[in-house]
Amino acid sequence: MKNKLIIFDTTLRDGEQSPGASMTQEEKVRIAKQLEKLGVNVIEAGFAAASPGDYEAINAVAKTITKSTVCSLARALEADIEKAGKAIEPAANKRIHTFIATSQIHMENKLRMKPEQVLNQAVKAVEWALSYTEDVEFSAEDAVRSDIGFLVEIFDAAIKAGAKTINVPDTVGYSIPDVWGHRMKTLIEKVPNSDKVIWSTHCHNDLGMAVANSLSAVLNGARQVECTINGLGERAGNASLEEIVMAVKTRKDIFNLETQINTQQIVPTSRLVSTITGYPVQPNKAVVGANAFAHESGIHQDGVLKHRETYEIMLAQDVGWGANKISLGKLSGRNAFKSRLSELGIEIESEETFNATFDRFKVLADKKSQIFDEDIHALVSEEYVEESYDLYKLIGLKTASETGKTPISEIEMTMDGKSQKSSAEGSGSVDAAFKAIESIVQSKAELLLFSVNNITSGTDSQGEVTVRLSRGGRIVNGQGSDTDIVIASAKAYISALNKLHSKYERAHPQV
Ligand code: KIV
Ligand code: ZN
Repeated sequence: MKNKLIIFDTTLRDGEQSPGASMTQEEKVRIAKQLEKLGVNVIEAGFAAASPGDYEAINAVAKTITKSTVCSLARALEADIEKAGKAIEPAANKRIHTFIATSQIHMENKLRMKPEQVLNQAVKAVEWALSYTEDVEFSAEDAVRSDIGFLVEIFDAAIKAGAKTINVPDTVGYSIPDVWGHRMKTLIEKVPNSDKVIWSTHCHNDLGMAVANSLSAVLNGARQVECTINGLGERAGNASLEEIVMAVKTRKDIFNLETQINTQQIVPTSRLVSTITGYPVQPNKAVVGANAFAHESGIHQDGVLKHRETYEIMLAQDVGWGANKISLGKLSGRNAFKSRLSELGIEIESEETFNATFDRFKVLADKKSQIFDEDIHALVSEEYVEESYDLYKLIGLKTASETGKTPISEIEMTMDGKSQKSSAEGSGSVDAAFKAIESIVQSKAELLLFSVNNITSGTDSQGEVTVRLSRGGRIVNGQGSDTDIVIASAKAYISALNKLHSKYERAHPQV
């Protein structure tokens, strides 16, 4: 146990608290499956009491995941804990993560409670949670600004009540590595029976130090790190899973710890989360950024060619950058497609979905001579989304744009199976296409984000478009990919509209 570092992923909970990153149930399940393949120990699937949609999504994750522990967050309130307990009920391994704020500023102004009341509530919360599962985690929110003496008292009480994991969060991203490491060390020294529990760290990135602070806590005794894929999360985000895992692996000489992470699944997981949330990964992001292993300077290139380790401390393939590999082409048949899917770790259970995905592949292969692994991931994603949401479907799109003339787009789509056609002018072909779709659907949704990224390199690459729409406080992300970016944009817009109309009315967590 001493040499094991538990990776607690909160992409589906704290990560989802990034503005606009809200996910549907189907998307949460898809990410949870990928997190399990990545090998995370605990998946915090959401905050069951936040909304019926969040409850359903956690419950669906709990029914699907068999190896990782499935966790729900809950305030230290009986009703929250009951919802969390019921949501995770079907999971093979289940955890309730209950929390209450312990800093003076939070207790006085937010909770309006005295420290003794907070302590009593924490104990009750752990006891309520224990009636649903033995695996209870207790967090002292805003531990970073909490009195250390009070933290010792409340953690002591939580351990006596039966908590198995004690989490110390830097909720506001205020600490720096030395101070944070020292705080972890002091707590472990002063809290009675500290050796009977797992100490956990949860850091936010407001000062850009979430990863450094988490690693400092690990060097001082923490054996669980709470983190997210791509560092997604509230405000400036949480500690990034890929950076923590690769730091511990690359500097084994310092940490001497093992994680269960299959590091080759890091890049595929990063891509999936980025596509679903519409949060692109910055090119210079450590480990998962497009330039993380690219050498531009002649001196560096020369050095790497002569001896890779002159400028590279990790192997690109070790984190899943086997990508950019040409997988298949026009002449590849069903068997070749099936075996490439399985090499990529993509499991398509139903024959019908496989056939539909193979048909998509054939259409793409007619347009593009070389199909890369990334193209296959995008095809599969699109098929899943279309199967889950099919109120609106794109049938055809024609655009005309010419220098000095107003662009016009004509759209043909189905609405509940009925064919509809429309055309509109716009400032560009994409704008015209969106207006044509809108004239049919009349959603009156507000467009919050329109972003285009190329999936691979070259002008025949597929463009991957994210459209974020908001209506009545609900925010959804739609994705579309195609070698023609106007068509990809129309697909993304229609995908977002489908989600807006889906039955899963999900409020933003912690509303
Ligand atoms: O940042 C924080 O304090 C949290 C807690 C709920 C653990 O996310
Ligand atoms: Zn947090």
